[in-house]
Amino acid sequence: MINIGLLGLGTVGSGVVEILESRKEKISSLIGEEINIKKILVKNVNKKRDIHLNKDIIISNFEEILNDHTISLVVEVTSDIEQSYEYVKLALNNGKSVVTANKALVSKYFEELSALAEEKNVSFLYEASVGGGIPIIKPLKEELILNSVDKVQGILNGTCNYILTRMFNEGLDYDEVLKKAQELGYAEMDPAADVEGPDTLRKLRILGSLALQGKVGEEDIILEGIEKITSFDVRQIKLMKSTVKLIGEVKEYEDGYSALVMPTIVKDGSYFASVNMAFNSVTFEGDNIGELKFYGSGAGKFPTGDAVLRDILDIALDFDRKQNPLGHRILKNNNSEIKDKYYLRISESKENILKSVEDISEKILSTKDNIAILTNEVEIKEIMDIISSLDIEKDEYFIARILD
Ligand code: HSE
Repeated sequence: MINIGLLGLGTVGSGVVEILESRKEKISSLIGEEINIKKILVKNVNKKRDIHLNKDIIISNFEEILNDHTISLVVEVTSDIEQSYEYVKLALNNGKSVVTANKALVSKYFEELSALAEEKNVSFLYEASVGGGIPIIKPLKEELILNSVDKVQGILNGTCNYILTRMFNEGLDYDEVLKKAQELGYAEMDPAADVEGPDTLRKLRILGSLALQGKVGEEDIILEGIEKITSFDVRQIKLMKSTVKLIGEVKEYEDGYSALVMPTIVKDGSYFASVNMAFNSVTFEGDNIGELKFYGSGAGKFPTGDAVLRDILDIALDFDRKQNPLGHRILKNNNSEIKDKYYLRISESKENILKSVEDISEKILSTKDNIAILTNEVEIKEIMDIISSLDIEKDEYFIARILD
């Protein structure tokens, strides 16, 4: 019997428990033994839960998992960072493998935890941390044996994609759709992590570091969220026969790399424009394999629970090589050199603002109530410097990169 200590029983944790229960026999017959959730660590043991479980396995003291020598695998599905880091480190140091869905944890401690797992000869797997149910981490790791990967791009946040899709397709209001995404269990506890972009940034940091085989840190990624988009922007961008997606991209650029998470304008009918609602997609390019595209449910209880269970099965079947998949390339960040075209809207129409953006304007879309322009090819820093020089609040502008 393979015994698991589960940390967390929220949306993803319940998904793991329910899928495991419903596929119990199939799994046992595949691996020749039963996978058993022996203990579940929660903050509040007495909380009423919809899930049917033996009460005795619900505990609040991590030591009961750590010191249980029959538990060989810790499955971490909380959204906490520092407490989970301590638990995961203790588990790995004690010779237990770890599976996690926690992108914030993986992103913050990626290098350290990957090295520690290899040193202790145990597995550290995190398929569910990126792209919900989409198999992306494992295929990327596999292709990295045979390919150099020089670009990874993706729609990596289900909540943002859901909000943008419904705003563009149904003309709905931002706040109304965000509320719905929360009800559906897509959004993080603090939805700012979704809409302001940190969730996408963390997933991109994980993918980018794997792909380029060198550290792409959180601080190395340009970040803009979708939280400032308005119905005005939606109307303007629809007139361009385009839509907006929050896209993360890491690519080799000149003698280094560039990394960004930004609202991105894509033409109707293009590949990313067809990724709608809470679906995610990741594409990467290898020198042998060419471009690969992965598409599927980017959030939610069962897709994410399924991804966690795929990692558990890989460990149970001894498919994981237990090797640190991260490379040691020292990468030069060339973000300051990338030039793109942008859509920029400022929610005030004043002569001095129009004058300030004139030099970077290729086309002026509106000067009434809002100033909206399409820029010529400029560095993002140039635009940001102009914005900071204007006397406007942080929520009074929206910027989106235009992807050809
Ligand atoms: N809040 C995340 C999303 C959950 O909306 O994509 C999956 O990581």
